[in-house]
Amino acid sequence: MRFAFFSLIVALVVSAVPVKRNAATVETDIANINTQVNNLNTAINTFAASPTLVNGLAIHTGAAPLESAVNTATSDTNASAAFTEAEGQTILTAIQSLATNVISTLSNLDGQHAKFAALPLAGSVQLVELDLQTLSSDTTAFENALIAKAPADLVPQANQVVSAISAAFSTAIATYAS
Ligand SMILES: *[C@@H]1O[C@H](CO)[C@@H](O)[C@H](O)[C@H]1NC(C)=O
Repeated sequence: MRFAFFSLIVALVVSAVPVKRNAATVETDIANINTQVNNLNTAINTFAASPTLVNGLAIHTGAAPLESAVNTATSDTNASAAFTEAEGQTILTAIQSLATNVISTLSNLDGQHAKFAALPLAGSVQLVELDLQTLSSDTTAFENALIAKAPADLVPQANQVVSAISAAFSTAIATYAS
């Protein structure tokens, strides 16, 4: 009984210690986000070629793992120490390449509005708009977390990436808001 009680205390103390995250974790998270963006883009291409309800809903379904990858990246970044200059550079380069992928995926989705509007499910266009809004606000939270850990000299370049991504989200959200 005493042993069990002791084990319980140890378990409680261990679970209270926050898991350490670092720049390497964040780099892995960025690679995971990139994979999910690619999966979503593949789903968009499938829908573009064959605009069925099932293929349209697959885009909505594919947004969920992307959101969760972005949210994991945000909490890992929050739990990381400030990035060194070298880490910050590596992460900035990874984010620049991710941004290119995100922007082309958003532009691909932006081009599918007429096909969503033609689906035999009321609210299909609004569903895409809601997914875009959620992804946009998750992305902003991740960007803010990254900038909070970035070396000061890299912040201007990081802000350029943020502006480019925001512009692409605004364009796609405006398309699906109408
Ligand atoms: C990350 O930190 C920011 C600023 O403290 C906080 O607002 C946000 O909720 C945190 N997000 C996650 C997912 O931990």
